[in-house]
Amino acid sequence: MRGANFQSLELPIIRGNYIAPPALIREECRRFNMEDRNVASTQKNVLVTGASSGIGRSIAVRLANAGWQVFAGVRSEKSAAELRTLHEAIRPLTLDITDSGQISAAKKIIGEAAGANGLQALVNNAGIAVAAPQEHQPVELVRRIFETNVIGHMAVTQAFLPLIRAGNGRIVFIGSGAGFIALPFFTAYAASKFAIEGVTDSLRRELRPWHIPVINVEPGTIKTPILDKGFREAEGIFSGLPAEARERYDASFQILRQVLDHELQAAPLPESVAVAVQIALDARRPKHRYPVGTEAWLARTLRLLPTRLVDVMIATWHSSIAKK
Ligand SMILES: NC(=O)c1ccc[n+]([C@@H]2O[C@H](COP(=O)([O-])OP(=O)(O)OC[C@H]3O[C@@H](n4cnc5c(N)ncnc54)[C@H](OP(=O)(O)O)[C@@H]3O)[C@@H](O)[C@H]2O)c1
Repeated sequence: MRGANFQSLELPIIRGNYIAPPALIREECRRFNMEDRNVASTQKNVLVTGASSGIGRSIAVRLANAGWQVFAGVRSEKSAAELRTLHEAIRPLTLDITDSGQISAAKKIIGEAAGANGLQALVNNAGIAVAAPQEHQPVELVRRIFETNVIGHMAVTQAFLPLIRAGNGRIVFIGSGAGFIALPFFTAYAASKFAIEGVTDSLRRELRPWHIPVINVEPGTIKTPILDKGFREAEGIFSGLPAEARERYDASFQILRQVLDHELQAAPLPESVAVAVQIALDARRPKHRYPVGTEAWLARTLRLLPTRLVDVMIATWHSSIAKK
């Protein structure tokens, strides 16, 4: 019944031995929906995955400041303790999105805490980004990137859809400019973000009959620890390679690092993504996509150009940074 629209209902409805006239039913539904919206606006619940750092943490703080009760998915007690100090409306809970047991446990905890109000938003944010030559990238790493960046989000979304439905909620995925333009060495990461584009488009069309918005917030490079973590892991992969392989890829990989270091210097802060998420959650009719930062817009534009031209542009861009 929640959020149902009975404006077009003209048939009388039988309750026990009493037949309620359509006008009265409409008025009751209107009041019910208004109360429903009031409940949602006084106590809005959101689950943010990967809230321990970077973009997820900014989203958690921003939404808590805006009056949301934030269920913040983390993977360690240390992260949970840190988040608790940031805002009293942030409620950290253990949630590794690749662990189905933890997803079920989180669903139970949030279901009990949110009650009939359900969830007004799910923000699928958790992610990892490791760049390495595809030729030498352990397949286990590729699997881990997909498990986290794609399958984990799909599993969490599946588990929490009943609560989102109950709460007239919406679903946000944190995609990426890498879901439009794939840089070298980011094969697995770019593939995972291209996949998220497909997931959001398909899910949005699937959930259209129930008016559940599915939104993709697509940042360009943002100043967070994600790339440093990824490069640390990549260094481990490189150091284990035979000398011949290191020699083959080292120069172009170092250029990529320089390019990303250069991008990071001027990159927006994670707060800019949190602002986009808040706009997407507040909008009466949210857009399907929210690119964040000039790089994200550039990625969308490049996608429209011939691939051969984009290949040359990326190579030229990288070599110009390398010469600086
Ligand atoms: N920064 C950028 O330039 C950029 C650009 C476009 C899109 N994005 C996307 O933005 C999202 C957030 O990234 P970020 O830049 O904020 O990176 P970040 O600071 O490294 O944060 C990543 C978060 O994901 C969590 N996480 C990793 N694996 C997880 C798992 N299996 N289960 C649950 N949580 C997990 C991390 O938790 P731990 O602390 O426990 O590891 C951390 O909280 C990612 O989806 C990323 O792809 C980032």
